[in-house]
Amino acid sequence: MQVIEQASAIRSIVQALRCSGKSIGFVPTMGALHNGHLQLIRAAAQQNDITICSVFVNPTQFNNQEDYKLYPRSLEQDTAALAAVGCDYLFAPTAADMYPEQSLLHFSFGVLEEVMEGAHRPGHFNGVAIIVSKLFHLVQPHRAYFGQKDLQQVAVVRQLVQGLGFDLEVVCYPTIREASGLAMSSRNKRLDVQQLEHATHLHKALLRAEAQIGAKPVAAIKEDIVAYLAKVPQLQLEYFEIANPATLQPVPDLSAEPEVALCIAAHVGPVRLIDNMIVKVL
Ligand code: PAJ
Repeated sequence: MQVIEQASAIRSIVQALRCSGKSIGFVPTMGALHNGHLQLIRAAAQQNDITICSVFVNPTQFNNQEDYKLYPRSLEQDTAALAAVGCDYLFAPTAADMYPEQSLLHFSFGVLEEVMEGAHRPGHFNGVAIIVSKLFHLVQPHRAYFGQKDLQQVAVVRQLVQGLGFDLEVVCYPTIREASGLAMSSRNKRLDVQQLEHATHLHKALLRAEAQIGAKPVAAIKEDIVAYLAKVPQLQLEYFEIANPATLQPVPDLSAEPEVALCIAAHVGPVRLIDNMIVKVL
């Protein structure tokens, strides 16, 4: 595996690969890699001639400076993990290379960014859209791989790809979890053993909600989840929503929906965590 730091270098590599007819699979990440990321790399390696992974902690998508500063960084371990699962190129640029000057671009995703992560993290999806656009232009992938863990991000990226006419396929893979049910996340590295235990209540709440789908109206399920999590004082619920899995808009009534996304965000100790499940409405 080759490690590339400069944008100009990855650009010429990709141009040569494209000229020789190779298909390119791309996995954008912010590093501190875990099995959720690595399943995307494995899938890309299986489905494309060449796999490129980027590791870049993107400053423009953080609406909280502390979160940016303390975001886990482990490039050496990431490099070894990527090489072991068949990645061909690791693109790890500096912030100065990705942002030679401050980006003034402004994306709008309409109602998609008015709910959940969009509503609670102002500017977040704008930063994601800027960096993903820049990376797509540099890497020119045939397929780009994302995780369901960030369901709303997948919807934003699909809208970006459609709106700007990027000639690539967006591929989404399911959420990988710890044995405890906790969704794997780079931010879990900032939690101690007790906080990791408290964090499992995000997934437990989703399972509890799933068991009520079809049996109770939306408002009653939401009330039950809020009451359930109020009993875990170490976890502060930010939102629990029942949404359409494609548009991410809240679903007022389950009778018209074949399936729904149960989405949750909560603070545990120093970090903010999200999780979701897509469930059939019977
Ligand atoms: P990051 O949080 O590093 O995630 C990179 C990719 O891995 C995302 O598509 C994310 O959904 C996926 N992922 C994370 N945890 C996962 C899990 N437990 N199971 C399955 N997939 C998982 O998402 C970002 O970085 C950034 O916003 C980025 C797209 C790189 C733009 O900066």
